[in-house]
Amino acid sequence: MMAVVQWLQILFLVGTSAVAGSDEVIKRFPLLMPQVTPTMDDTYFCTPIRIDPTMDYYITGFQPNTTSATAHHMLLYGCMTPGVDEDVWNCGGMAVSNAGYSTAPTCKSGPQVIYAWALDAPALLLPEGVAFKVGKNSDIKYLVLQVHYASKAPFIDGLKDDSGVFVYYRETPQPRTAGVLLLGTGGRILPKSVEYMETECTIKEDKVIYPFAFRTHTHQLGRVVSGYKVSRNGGEDVWTLLGKKDPQLPQMFYPVVTNTTIRKGDRVAARCTMVSDRDYVTRIGSTAKDEMCNFYLMYYTEGTSPLKDPKCFSLGPPFYSWTRGGFNNIPDADASSLPVGETAKEMGVVRHQM
Ligand SMILES: *[C@@H]1O[C@H](CO)[C@@H](O)[C@H](O)[C@H]1NC(C)=O
Ligand SMILES: *[C@@H]1O[C@H](CO)[C@@H](O)[C@H](O)[C@H]1NC(C)=O
Repeated sequence: MMAVVQWLQILFLVGTSAVAGSDEVIKRFPLLMPQVTPTMDDTYFCTPIRIDPTMDYYITGFQPNTTSATAHHMLLYGCMTPGVDEDVWNCGGMAVSNAGYSTAPTCKSGPQVIYAWALDAPALLLPEGVAFKVGKNSDIKYLVLQVHYASKAPFIDGLKDDSGVFVYYRETPQPRTAGVLLLGTGGRILPKSVEYMETECTIKEDKVIYPFAFRTHTHQLGRVVSGYKVSRNGGEDVWTLLGKKDPQLPQMFYPVVTNTTIRKGDRVAARCTMVSDRDYVTRIGSTAKDEMCNFYLMYYTEGTSPLKDPKCFSLGPPFYSWTRGGFNNIPDADASSLPVGETAKEMGVVRHQM
């Protein structure tokens, strides 16, 4: 498969087109499925692009190229190494296996979600002067597009699909660098119960980060996922809501609800409120019978390097909780509730996330 990878690399260098005035330097790269035909419902296909390792590139935006009639959702991952060295494979935890393709994770190492699309969402342009740095001096050496095809019906006549994302980028350094901080937990959810899965960590790097978007992710049992900045003021914890969402709604990046800065010594915290009417214990894992508790925080920081440690995980219940972590002023009701009209149920969303 090396040949395919090399070809993609060359395409990255020459297969670009300017999208603004002739002296503008924004370029556009198509990261599209290479004419695939999903043959099963709930197919997850991945396709990679290897970034020229001798250069830095600065990604400033994403333009989706699909419709909700075709794709349930698309995720764009940055990876250190892709799940497998092929041009298309079955990926995603719930992956069914389309014959003729390997099955592997999205990334073999260093996964970072940098864009998420669902339900005819429009293009995402990062704030002015902000870019994801990829390539030579970045942990992102590959981009991998994951498309979830919920139904094989549009393809039964052997129709082929090229859903994907046009990635906007520049070759000149941008003053600010984007990153995604991933908060999550381990743990278990007891049968017939409501469980809070909580995590928290202290920012130790000497950087000021500006959060601008968030994304939530659980499987079927998640009802509310909320994320906070927590600063300590004379022994009192001050909680600032960054975002909260019903994870049964489309799991895209949404704007933060408070514009705030996070500095060295501040903490970030997240809670997933899980409701189980199952008669068995549910554990963290990748299949539909398992659960996940994730809060993604997209931010930028001045300069050309993002946070070195972009993860914030706890053991989850029964070993970790905010109370055990020594927090006070915990916003118990706020963290597990949504404004009227913002639950998936009230909004008429019936399809559970996978
Ligand atoms: C993706 O873009 C190509 C080229 O612009 C277009 O021909 C194609 O119809 C698009 N595909 C989808 C699924 O929107
Ligand atoms: C946060 O700042 C952005 C960019 O200036 C602005 O568009 C957005 O409305 C602000 N959000 C809030 C909740 O104040």
